[in-house]
Amino acid sequence: MRLKGKSALITGSARGIGKAFAEAYAREGATVAIADIDLAAAEATAQAIGSAAYAVRLDVTDQSSIEAAVKAVEEKTGGLDVLINNAAIFDLAPIVEITRASYEKLLAVNVAGTLFTLQAAARSMIARGQGGRIINMASQAGRRGEPLVAVYCATKAAVISLTQSAGLDLIKHRINVNGIAPGVVDSDMWDQVDALFAKYENRPKGEKKRLVGEGVPYGRMGKPEDLAGMAVFLASDEAEYIVAQTYNVDGGQWMS
Ligand SMILES: NC(=O)c1ccc[n+]([C@@H]2O[C@H](COP(=O)([O-])OP(=O)(O)OC[C@H]3O[C@@H](n4cnc5c(N)ncnc54)[C@H](O)[C@@H]3O)[C@@H](O)[C@H]2O)c1
Repeated sequence: MRLKGKSALITGSARGIGKAFAEAYAREGATVAIADIDLAAAEATAQAIGSAAYAVRLDVTDQSSIEAAVKAVEEKTGGLDVLINNAAIFDLAPIVEITRASYEKLLAVNVAGTLFTLQAAARSMIARGQGGRIINMASQAGRRGEPLVAVYCATKAAVISLTQSAGLDLIKHRINVNGIAPGVVDSDMWDQVDALFAKYENRPKGEKKRLVGEGVPYGRMGKPEDLAGMAVFLASDEAEYIVAQTYNVDGGQWMS
């Protein structure tokens, strides 16, 4: 029960990695807002977790939606202790085929969504005066470019940079901002990644996913649950002195 009594808001937690975070947080004693643009899926996830979870509709590209979600958490639990900025979207194309629409959408969700949800959470935490924790989901994609993945990689590099700046700015309020950089994790997002690689690299469906899994030093793709230990740790008292860092949790992928 390392998060006993804590109130957490996890964006994009109706499925995938965010859902695994919500399950782990509930097991550790937190109350969790399953905040997602897909309200029906968020409700199903909250119901499956039980009384420690509740669904909130959130579109991280919409400022009024962000503010309403933070307010809903304040009203439900008395105040926000932990935000996980997990919602993100993916796209892929060669440089010469990137469209402005795809670029703007990825930046809106992955970068502006992260920044302005972080800002709303920080304002709420500062007003309450009890500090807090903010965890941003980066990626190994934020640590280097990839030929087909320019925009997504750039958004995740931005998340790592925002984590550094916000971490340094907010620690005076005892708000620790840190990040997690997964490698490859089996989720709906990776099914989309696989389908896009199949198209652009002319592969059968499923092949890219199998190959990247085999390439991970640990011997397989990550599962969403593999990330949960770090997300619990960063929200726990043991992480009090950790500021502005982004940790790889990737089965050795980045090191290889
Ligand atoms: N899957 C991977 O291999 C991998 C690797 C590195 C980093 N990540 C990062 O981990 C995080 C979670 O990834 P995942 O694989 O679980 O993704 P996913 O696509 O399975 O789930 C993402 C969730 O975010 C929600 N969402 C999308 N747009 C939203 C918006 N505007 N507002 C609110 N919610 C929105 C979706 O409805 C969905 O429930 C993301 O930040 C992703 O970039 C994933």
